[in-house]
Amino acid sequence: MGIEKSPWRADFPLLAANPEIAFLDSAATAQRPVCVLDAQRRFYETMNANPLRGLYSLSVEATAAIAAVRAQVADLIGAPDARDVVFTRNTSESLNLVAKSFSPCVLTPGDEVAITIMEHHSNLIPWQEACRAAGARLVYLYPKKDGTLADAEIAEKIGPRTRIVSAAHVSNVMGCELPIRHLADAAHAVGAVMVVDAAQSVPHLRVDVNELGADFLAFSGHKALGPMGVGVLWGKRELLEQMPPMLTGGEMIDSVREQDATWAPVPEKFEAGTQDAAGIYATGAALAYLTKAVGIDAVAEREAALVSYAWERLEGLGFVELIGPADPARHHGVISFNVRGVHPHDVASILDASGVCIRAGHHCAQPLLAWLGVENLACCRASLAFYNEKSDVDRLVDGLSQVWGIFNGSD
Ligand code: ALA
Repeated sequence: MGIEKSPWRADFPLLAANPEIAFLDSAATAQRPVCVLDAQRRFYETMNANPLRGLYSLSVEATAAIAAVRAQVADLIGAPDARDVVFTRNTSESLNLVAKSFSPCVLTPGDEVAITIMEHHSNLIPWQEACRAAGARLVYLYPKKDGTLADAEIAEKIGPRTRIVSAAHVSNVMGCELPIRHLADAAHAVGAVMVVDAAQSVPHLRVDVNELGADFLAFSGHKALGPMGVGVLWGKRELLEQMPPMLTGGEMIDSVREQDATWAPVPEKFEAGTQDAAGIYATGAALAYLTKAVGIDAVAEREAALVSYAWERLEGLGFVELIGPADPARHHGVISFNVRGVHPHDVASILDASGVCIRAGHHCAQPLLAWLGVENLACCRASLAFYNEKSDVDRLVDGLSQVWGIFNGSD
């Protein structure tokens, strides 16, 4: 199948109703297929009750619906037990849960947490805070400019003081995959745990916690076609059991007395209060669509073809400075770039006038942009999904030529 037309585009009401839009910001949030919107509505229309493991049929049905999505998530990431899947609000919350609740179990003064300079702020600030609280040191692994992490860098930075290693599976700026298995092996060799931020990989690649060697893995439903407001944290049972809850209150207790309380088992221990049950149910519809109706291999294949085409066209422009690996095959949906001499915010605004949606700014990765030496700590990012078509890329390229013309007096 070529990249001219996407057989799935018609499933996305916003795209179908707005042919003038070239949506190239799926790394920030994906568009939703109609089956996800229908599922959200179906929950409220047919099974709306608080999933309190209730004593009446509607609540039992809602509880079963959430349990089914937990099982689906476990299946998606190769987790051995669905009860090790915790629902949160987003990847940030999942990573905060590990940093705030797990870190104090293992970090003592002088210990180290190792992350890479390629991390999104979600996988960076929680570790700054955890290290500050424990008197530990935050250590950075620096890749080569093409995003490759050298063996020597891994060997040098992960050592006897390391207790936690945390890294993105796919960089939201450079687009490339990080060597998670290698990092996990290095972490395990010194008795540290491996935390994986899979926010940018779950929508694009097969993700398996066993193959990655992950001890914790976090992602967001909304980047994988689900509604906003649902995140996932998977963790190894023995680690989750060690951790205290981050939030306390309703639904997460075993028993409560006047002066103290005991906690429900994992995962309820970490799911205080009423959850976005409709959102979780609709996330199940999203994952079914992504993995069954489309298929993650078809997603990866189509996105690779789109990225390769986009890369070639952008390279051909001459005034576009591409960021990250020079080989487009290493970019999982994400191409970051700058137009020489033009602020990315101006680029994005001009493109918007022609319906082309890209993200411009620091992409929640300021330390990475500083390390890359990117001017103004800002760049443009076009991120592609399987519902994009060749024409979206062509419109981006035409828009960039217009930008160049405006700033160089030929338009
Ligand atoms: N984390 C999202 C991004 O990188 C918002 O765009």
